[in-house]
Amino acid sequence: MPAEKDNLFKIFSQNESKIAQLYALYALAIPSQEKMWTRLSGEEIKHAMVLQKLDTVYGDSEKLYTAIEGARNILDYVGNFIDEQLAAAQSRDINVQEAISTAMRLEQSMIERKCFDIVSSNEPEIISILETLNKETENHFQILKMHINDSEIY
Ligand SMILES: [Fe+2]
Repeated sequence: MPAEKDNLFKIFSQNESKIAQLYALYALAIPSQEKMWTRLSGEEIKHAMVLQKLDTVYGDSEKLYTAIEGARNILDYVGNFIDEQLAAAQSRDINVQEAISTAMRLEQSMIERKCFDIVSSNEPEIISILETLNKETENHFQILKMHINDSEIY
């Protein structure tokens, strides 16, 4: 189903950009965790950039990868969730617990919904990039988990 694959890497990349934006807002909202959010945000920018590269290099080479059915819906679902959280962070105060739990939910949804497993490929560069993204998403989840009991210090 070619329509399913339309702009897949591009939407992946846009989602990562939006996560980077969200974490940057959290860095401003929560000075006591500024370092952590800034680091996570920077890594999400890198994810967005490599996915943008995948889109540029392989976006039109549909023979080089396959996507599971509903891939686009999954990415859109995650994208909508990020939009809601961005709107919340822009319009009201966000506390430590809310930021951490939202981010954990987000990183976990990337893992559980297998955002980086919805595409399969035999192309070594695609495989390697998706594996790196998978590992770093898991790593983000672990970092957030370590901060789950951080207290509210402003
Ligand atoms: Fe990411």
